[in-house]
Amino acid sequence: MNPVKVGLLGLGTVGGGTLNVLTRNADEIARRAGRGIQITHAAAKQYDPSNLIGLEHVEVCDDAFSVVDNPELDIIIELIGGYSPARELVLKAIENGKHVVTANKALIAMHGNEIFDAAQKKGVMVAFEAAVAGGIPIIKAVREGLAANHIEWIAGIINGTGNFILTEMRDKGREFGDVLKEAQALGYAEADPTFDVEGIDAAHKLTILGSIAFGIPLQFEKTYTEGITKIEPQDVEYADQFGYRIKHLGITRKTEAGIEMRVHPTMIPQRRLIANVDGVMNAVLVKGDAVGPTLYYGAGAGSEPTASAVVADVVDVVRMLTTDPENHVPHLAFQAGKLVDLAILPIEEVETTFYLRMQVVDKPGVVAKIASILAESQISIEAIQQKEPAEGDNTVPLVMLTQKVIEMQLNKAIAEIEQLDSVFGQVMRIRVERLDG
Ligand code: HSE
Repeated sequence: MNPVKVGLLGLGTVGGGTLNVLTRNADEIARRAGRGIQITHAAAKQYDPSNLIGLEHVEVCDDAFSVVDNPELDIIIELIGGYSPARELVLKAIENGKHVVTANKALIAMHGNEIFDAAQKKGVMVAFEAAVAGGIPIIKAVREGLAANHIEWIAGIINGTGNFILTEMRDKGREFGDVLKEAQALGYAEADPTFDVEGIDAAHKLTILGSIAFGIPLQFEKTYTEGITKIEPQDVEYADQFGYRIKHLGITRKTEAGIEMRVHPTMIPQRRLIANVDGVMNAVLVKGDAVGPTLYYGAGAGSEPTASAVVADVVDVVRMLTTDPENHVPHLAFQAGKLVDLAILPIEEVETTFYLRMQVVDKPGVVAKIASILAESQISIEAIQQKEPAEGDNTVPLVMLTQKVIEMQLNKAIAEIEQLDSVFGQVMRIRVERLDG
């Protein structure tokens, strides 16, 4: 059988990795797919040919639309990233009857509903394994491997750059900016690194996980997003003293009130496996009602790890080329007509426990006053710690863990505490999750 011809949009970190993996492992991949797979055309504005293998068989141009319009191609791999022109290119490829493989989480999180609708009508597939957690096959695991379950919750370290920064800050006391620069040089960070440190990249990925877990439309705009830029070395240290680690988690959970979708720094018990996922590595913990908790670990970014997921998607598409489109694995795990519009909970309605840190005057009655404000708001304190003041300073950090409280209730209490003359600045808060299944 003739090889399947593929057009590649983008020859950067992941595009280059995809060409290299497809070329290097061509025979093994053909044995799996049942046909050869050949990238024959590519579009790239700039690229470095020195590290690319198999480029001599590829016609490279700088007009991505000409690749998408090429009638010889069956599959388009979109690896240019961003919302536009990726959206227009993918929609055009679908209109032209081509299957699409993409690593573009921003595109799927923001425009996935429109894209899947167009693909469904045209009977083509849009595969996006590489969009979430790089090389970890988490889409396949949730969509297919766990298809028997009611998914209860998912909690993941789904941004390698953020995890790398938090790990280096904890282990080596390095500066935030210095570690970020290293992550950029290693090709982990997004083109706009605020997407990594402010949690936007993780929110894109969590939006996708929430949809395939619960069979709901993609709703990026309702995902609560908080970055890691306010975490101070002292928070890392206090977390440690309480027996926790701070991780930047994406959490989605089904509750009776609705679906939680939230990305924020989170304190988790040190003894959990996921608390020990360090550096650029990603991990996703999925709790299903039948299977219990399951953990998926691997490289969440980088050239060949991400290419691994892209190429696996291409293989899946090739295997399905001859099947009836009605029998493809549904894009969002549940049949297209069976998605449900469950409410996404605003963060104010989410119930969690909290770590609180405040700088207070060291004099009698201050802790009692703060405790009484919390008590009046029905917030119970689980643990409390106050350090000796530094010499010449009459203020001290007061650190505590609360029991479970609805966020709205905590906000009111914090606003009152911040009004006290004996409390300086803002109260730092970090949500705490036990992740105990
Ligand atoms: N910037 C992302 C990360 C790349 O650091 O995880 C993979 O999506």
